[in-house]
Amino acid sequence: MKAILLKKFGGVEELYLGETPTPKISADEVLVKIEATALNRADLLQRRGLYPPPPGESEILGLEMAGTVAETGSQVRDWKPGDRVFALLAGGGYAEYAKVHHGMLMPIPANLDFAEAACIAEAFLTAWQAVVWLAKLKKGESILIHAGASGVGTAATQIAKSRGANVTVTASAGKHGFCKKMGADRCIDYRSQDFGEVLANHADVLIDFIGGPYFTKNMKALKTDGRMVILGFLGGTKADRTDIAPILRKRLKIMGSTLRSRTLEYKTALTKDFQKHCLPLFENGKIRPVADAVFDWKDVQKAHLYMEANKNKGKIAMTV
Ligand SMILES: NC(=O)c1ccc[n+]([C@@H]2O[C@H](COP(=O)([O-])OP(=O)(O)OC[C@H]3O[C@@H](n4cnc5c(N)ncnc54)[C@H](OP(=O)(O)O)[C@@H]3O)[C@@H](O)[C@H]2O)c1
Repeated sequence: MKAILLKKFGGVEELYLGETPTPKISADEVLVKIEATALNRADLLQRRGLYPPPPGESEILGLEMAGTVAETGSQVRDWKPGDRVFALLAGGGYAEYAKVHHGMLMPIPANLDFAEAACIAEAFLTAWQAVVWLAKLKKGESILIHAGASGVGTAATQIAKSRGANVTVTASAGKHGFCKKMGADRCIDYRSQDFGEVLANHADVLIDFIGGPYFTKNMKALKTDGRMVILGFLGGTKADRTDIAPILRKRLKIMGSTLRSRTLEYKTALTKDFQKHCLPLFENGKIRPVADAVFDWKDVQKAHLYMEANKNKGKIAMTV
């Protein structure tokens, strides 16, 4: 099959469209003919050799895809060839075919095309896990979501709104109109405003992707019994000289999570819970995937540069 491969770890010039063996499925797996995939920050790190796939998983980039079922393993009863499906992957999305455990697949809502469906799994399952499973956001609570225009940020905003929360996001000023369209009640320009001051003791829940440089301000923004989920370190991992007294004083819960390294059982359970409670909101148009830009996969280098320059509002899809 064709796939986007790496000459060696490094810049976008190392990405090329080449040939590699088609994956072979086992009894509980499904072979999917990929029609579209989507980019994630992790792809940029993996391209540079900084984020290896979990042991035994495909070395090919790509954490999600949408396509049609090509072949099913002997024990698979829930899918048949031709079904339109999408899924989270541990790797291998930048390819013509991927093998997926049958429990990880979800049906594509009829109102969505492949590029849109390819933009759901990573962002929305990450956001569902953080907002619903970990932070246990309740109706009427206040949530602060950093990187509000990011793929995961736009998913978290829509999920939080659908659960009746009041949503504040941080984003660069040019992206505020877009964040409001996603449902944000309030936007803070993190470059010109101190969100810790603006939101002092206001947030019940906080979703962070920035890490070290935000840690002190995050604790300030959280109210008593606040919950914070750290999902990324776009700003770095060091939080030196931080006064951690608010953790006790405000009884804060600080959590971190990754999706990629989770067990199959965990990811299947998350997928099923999301499919039951959130996917119907896509079907009736209350929540939508946000495909900001759609590149042909031959333009994978341009797609990576677009993300590296922080130009995207929502997700970047690639048609295969
Ligand atoms: N833990 C997990 O399971 C998991 C899963 C998926 C993704 N993630 C993480 O989630 C984060 C978002 O991923 P994504 O694919 O949704 O990203 P994305 O769509 O590429 O968006 C990232 C946005 O973050 C903002 N940003 C970048 N650097 C920043 C900084 N230093 N300070 C403040 N804002 C900054 C930029 O928007 P502005 O123009 O507003 O600055 C940028 O467009 C990444 O850190 C990723 O690694 C974690």
